[in-house]
Amino acid sequence: MAGVPVTAVPWWKEAVFYQIYPRSFADTDGDGVGDLAGIRAHLNDLAWLGVDALWISPFFRSPMADFGYDVSDYCDVDPLFGDLAGFDSLVADAHALGLRVVIDWVPNHTSVEHPWFVDAASSRDSGHRNWYVWRDPSPDGSPPNNWVAAFDLTAAAWTFHEPTGQWYLHLFEEAQPDLNWDEPAVVEAMHDTLRFWLDRGVDGFRADVVHGIGKDPALPDDPPEEAGIPHCALNDVPVTHERLRAIRRLIDAYPGERMMVGEVFLLSTDAVATYYGHDDELHLAFNFPPLFAPWLADRWTACIDDAERSLEPRGAWPTWVLSNHDNPRHRTRYDRSAARAGEDPATILRRSEARARAAAVLLLTLRGTPFVYQGDELGLVDADIPADRQVDPGGRDGCRAPLPWDGSDDHGWPTAPGTTTWLPLAPEADIRNRVAQRDDPRSVLHLYRRAIATRRATPELVLGSCTPVASPEGTLAFRRVLGDATCTVLVNFGGDPVDTTPLGLAGLEVLLVSDDPAPVARFSGVLGADQAVVVRH
Ligand code: NOJ
Repeated sequence: MAGVPVTAVPWWKEAVFYQIYPRSFADTDGDGVGDLAGIRAHLNDLAWLGVDALWISPFFRSPMADFGYDVSDYCDVDPLFGDLAGFDSLVADAHALGLRVVIDWVPNHTSVEHPWFVDAASSRDSGHRNWYVWRDPSPDGSPPNNWVAAFDLTAAAWTFHEPTGQWYLHLFEEAQPDLNWDEPAVVEAMHDTLRFWLDRGVDGFRADVVHGIGKDPALPDDPPEEAGIPHCALNDVPVTHERLRAIRRLIDAYPGERMMVGEVFLLSTDAVATYYGHDDELHLAFNFPPLFAPWLADRWTACIDDAERSLEPRGAWPTWVLSNHDNPRHRTRYDRSAARAGEDPATILRRSEARARAAAVLLLTLRGTPFVYQGDELGLVDADIPADRQVDPGGRDGCRAPLPWDGSDDHGWPTAPGTTTWLPLAPEADIRNRVAQRDDPRSVLHLYRRAIATRRATPELVLGSCTPVASPEGTLAFRRVLGDATCTVLVNFGGDPVDTTPLGLAGLEVLLVSDDPAPVARFSGVLGADQAVVVRH
């Protein structure tokens, strides 16, 4: 990998990741759905932004019941997105630019159209029957237990399969049957899918609901006090750790520091922390509380404290994420919280952008690996999708709206006659497109670029310790220290300026300000409304 530097610290600790949701990133064939060639065509834009690694959401063969998270062939590219040769070219070009490539791996479930499930469903005696989780009906004909599926919280995590007279388990949609990892052949086959992509040169995997690969073999009911919580948020059993250790050994046996970041969708950071094992399970795990936290200093303080308290003693490396393809974008969430405060629409827009900017500085200066979701670097909000264009069973279309590239009528998404983009484009596309923002040093895009560059030039912001600093109410401050180098990050979560001079930071060199492309050289001690500032001691 010509352009990729080798350092003593694993690259994934220092890297800024950029999540690509391929359907909505960039389209090259005019079918209104993004493709791998579209990603390849924009690699220079991502290198310009300064990110180090791409996580590409699923592009494998799939009937698209869950837009690719229902895989029917783990080892091929869906024709909608391109082909294997196109993927190889994408990896080669990315590596030449120094960009790592991490792909999504969906080990908890397949599509109902995967040949394994087709065979499993063909008869109770089929060779693949035990590759999925089948149970006889209860005496009263009800599902085998009370587990609830994701998305529709009134739906059982089981579907009755009439032809063979048994229920099959699916923690997600009916079209996504859970694999049975108790079956050794499943483990071997899924390990082979990892080898297939590792052999093709990927740098790692984002593992989808990876805590689902172990289930209590007795499949006991969830406790009544957890009623209404999808089972995927509760499934936490010891055998999963053993399975993750085997996966870790497989990955670490490859040269070039391959890695896995797991989606462990459990409710507590303490529980998630256990999935790092003793540096022998996941390399990284997503930490979701900040993604659900409102724009409030005390909530963010708690998120940061929790992450440090749970992960630091294990030597586990934190991750930070503001948005992804499953949740409203953070600027939209902060809009909503501003709206609840009774502000007028223009103020809400201005403030939510200020908040999103300050959040970007936070994301890129906390101790841990940051993940930027495509479009956050433009300050996008969710699209309001009309009822007749909604397509996602989980109601997540808004954050998946295609990315505006330029100020032209189609914003870089020309479609063939009679075709339209698979979802309406993200809002405010005239100003929130890459070309417009690239020409404007005050834009959110330039803020992300500056913040990433500042991070890269300031080792204490990457590898330094992180210690909270007492700060005035409604603000948050923390110190990053590495050797003799110290920076302090200050964030104001409120709509009024705050005097922080009692902290003794006035006069220090300013490295980064969330709302100003040319920060004043010395900190005045006053934090602006919804502003983040990084100072060097
Ligand atoms: C988590 C993924 O991020 C989400 O998009 C998907 O629907 C579920 N896992 C099921 O694969």
